[in-house]
Amino acid sequence: AKLNQLAKSKGKLYFGTATDNSELSDTGYTAILDDNTMFGQITPANSMKWDATEPEQGQFTFSGGDQIANLAKSNSMLLRGHNCVWYNQLPSWVSSGSFTAAQLTSIIQNHCSTLVTHYKGQVYAWDVVNEPFNDDGTWRTDVFYNTLGTSYVSIALNAARQADPNAKLYINEYNIEYVGAKATSLLNLVKTLKSQSVPLDGIGFQCHFIVGQVPTGLQSQLSTFAAQGVEVAITELDIRMTLPSTPALLQQQKTDYQNTIAACSAVEACVGVTVWDWTDKYSWVPNTFSGQGAACPWDQNFAKKPAYDGIAIGFGN
Ligand code: G3I
Repeated sequence: AKLNQLAKSKGKLYFGTATDNSELSDTGYTAILDDNTMFGQITPANSMKWDATEPEQGQFTFSGGDQIANLAKSNSMLLRGHNCVWYNQLPSWVSSGSFTAAQLTSIIQNHCSTLVTHYKGQVYAWDVVNEPFNDDGTWRTDVFYNTLGTSYVSIALNAARQADPNAKLYINEYNIEYVGAKATSLLNLVKTLKSQSVPLDGIGFQCHFIVGQVPTGLQSQLSTFAAQGVEVAITELDIRMTLPSTPALLQQQKTDYQNTIAACSAVEACVGVTVWDWTDKYSWVPNTFSGQGAACPWDQNFAKKPAYDGIAIGFGN
């Protein structure tokens, strides 16, 4: 059986993947992508980010995002919006601007509201705030935090809720998959936002893992966050290795994928799993971690790796 079918038979909403506009002209790639029994959900890897959607103040361009949204629609796949507010891939008019708190508040409100309104009714969930914390649990001192303190989070969430009341609103983060300072800070933020009735529906666990180092506490972390009254999802899964890949590494990777999927399977509030692209051909990993790669469940020639079977087993098959 195929992975989205398996996810659904386990009671999940979807198994999905990130994709990017430049990949959609590759017919070998789309032949596998365009199958909603394999992928029930897609996330645009880049084309809904701030630099892509509002490159100059007040000038919105949705062509790239629309291409992915239309693909989701024509294939009957869920769409995750990614993202409204993030320190990275920010156009310089935002990152280097010097704004008063009032100015930046309305800039965030206008960006989130225009973006979320444009895709209203088409998006299952939005990563409204992406990666707000440093690994040591302190807040990232980006333009948002430096100008507005922690209030930028609720400013963005409120704007998104007004724009599309039916979209699930997420904070998405990495290195929260195990107990530590960063996870604790995010958990405390969730508690604070909930106590203030700020609209927040979900926490995204990115899960950019390393072969042989999948955190054993993942399932427990998913449950800990869900206990605060949010859903959770695995939003950007990949499991990289030091190249070259060997049969032993691929077997370990299979186990690692299986354990990661099994953690979501075991937690009722975990709604689904998204891989951060399904093929090694288009993984972000080698561009960022030199000498590492082979992180996806399909290889660069679109052949299934042992990891594919690991995912299937993780969904209970
Ligand atoms: O669009 C330009 C192109 O015009 C130029 O010729 C080319 C040359 O380098 O760069 C292209 O932009 C690249 C962009 O991806 C589109 O391909 C950027 O350099 C590159 O940095 C960018 O990388 C993206 C990365 O986010 C940026 O931080 C990855 O594709 C994307 O997969 C990755 O996704 C992030 C999530 O959003 C958040 N969590 C972590 C995850 C992995 O880093």
